[in-house]
Amino acid sequence: MNLNLTTKEIQTDIQIVLVKHKFIKENKKLLKSLNFKASNEEAVLLIESKKLYVGFEDEDDDTIRVAIATAIKELNKTNIKSASIKTDFKLSVIVDGFELGNYQFNKYKSKDETKDEKDIYIIVDKIGKDTQKIFEQQISICNAVNKVRDFINTAPDDFYPDTMANEAIKISKESKLKCKILDEDALEEKSMNAMLAVGRASRHKSKLIHLTYKPKKKAKKKIVLVGKGLTYDSGGLSLKPSDFMTTMKSDKSGGSAVLGIMDTIAKLNLSIEVHGIIGAVENMIGGDAYKPDDILVAKDGTTIEVRNTDAEGRLVLADCLCYAQDEVKDIDYILDFATLTGACVVGVGQYTSGIMGNNNILNYQVVQSAWDSGELATTLPFNRYLKKTLKSEIADICNISNTRYGGAITAGLFLEHFIKDENKQKWVHIDIAGPAFVEHSWGYNPHGASGAGVRMTLEFFRSLCK
Ligand code: BES
Ligand code: ZN
Ligand code: ZN
Repeated sequence: MNLNLTTKEIQTDIQIVLVKHKFIKENKKLLKSLNFKASNEEAVLLIESKKLYVGFEDEDDDTIRVAIATAIKELNKTNIKSASIKTDFKLSVIVDGFELGNYQFNKYKSKDETKDEKDIYIIVDKIGKDTQKIFEQQISICNAVNKVRDFINTAPDDFYPDTMANEAIKISKESKLKCKILDEDALEEKSMNAMLAVGRASRHKSKLIHLTYKPKKKAKKKIVLVGKGLTYDSGGLSLKPSDFMTTMKSDKSGGSAVLGIMDTIAKLNLSIEVHGIIGAVENMIGGDAYKPDDILVAKDGTTIEVRNTDAEGRLVLADCLCYAQDEVKDIDYILDFATLTGACVVGVGQYTSGIMGNNNILNYQVVQSAWDSGELATTLPFNRYLKKTLKSEIADICNISNTRYGGAITAGLFLEHFIKDENKQKWVHIDIAGPAFVEHSWGYNPHGASGAGVRMTLEFFRSLCK
């Protein structure tokens, strides 16, 4: 799909017309006979009139994104070559609908079913400098989301820690970022034994990725992003039941989101310094696997009693958070992204991310940015009683709680242990376990990865630079 911005009433094969629910004005008789009610996600193509009618029930941004996605999906069923739309809705929202709704993952289809590229024209009254900028930046953001979707959808045998590191190197070259890759020897040297333990039984060696973006002008803020990059989570010796193991290629979603954000940051021209740190690891079984009952010593010296090898993400993140705080001084914000707990999905549903941290104001800022960008998020407040449930009899902390309740929060509180005092109020943990991977298509997300975390974070960055 080629998306264009124009002021001309261009002649295209089809005109897309958004129709408010029950407010059908044109072709009334015909549309009525086709039982078109202009409901959400409803579309009718009247080829003779050269019109594609798409319904919407509310006027909020996300409803419009879904309507536009419905339009492009309808067009993708045909061989129609061009279409246009004239609308007063926000340009960024229209771009999202087209670019995110058009996404397909065909890497593993043996028959090439891709149709000819369609030319789509968004007609606006005038194109000022701002309009052009919004258009281009939103396309960059959507491209990043789609790239992240590709990473996550790729099968675990084709995307392992080394692949992730290579993708980071590629991004660093394209976007002129600094890129440092730490192999297992380097991780050992840095005493990152919790992270190393998780990857020990895998034939794929663990990697830590560290990307850095520094703006040309003096940075107003310094931000660190840390991502869980479990390229596969079998559960380890605390093996997952088969039904729960499928889709665990998506356990690299946090790390992949960080890659996507780093890929876009330079294109947005924001005066912030951003570090992207990813723990790329595969959690497998084998004679060399780490075990329940093992005691691991994290980078900061914390001793961790392993009681479940499936609570591996927090072990990888613990070391990565320590690394981040040791390597980057005077941090303004530190955000981590992880498909950390099934409990978060149970608690808030599969569409919503859980936002946690010690600083309520900051938590709500991130929630607001998520909603502004089209992502769903909600806060999950910490409390000292749940913190106590992580106590270990023989080590400093357990990697699982002694209660089965509040699992998303106890996982967040485990991470909190590794946040230095000076950063306690600057840290936010984002559990994307629900929205990261879509089993049954919703909104403008087809089956597979959604790219959760990318848009909310870029919106958060923008809000910091306002
Ligand atoms: N990667 C999983 C969490 C997950 C579950 C992500 C479902 C996406 C969808 C994580 O490593 C895990 O297995 N967590 C355990 C923690 C438990 C052992 C305390 C879980 O949620 O069951
Ligand atoms: Zn796990
Ligand atoms: Zn996991």
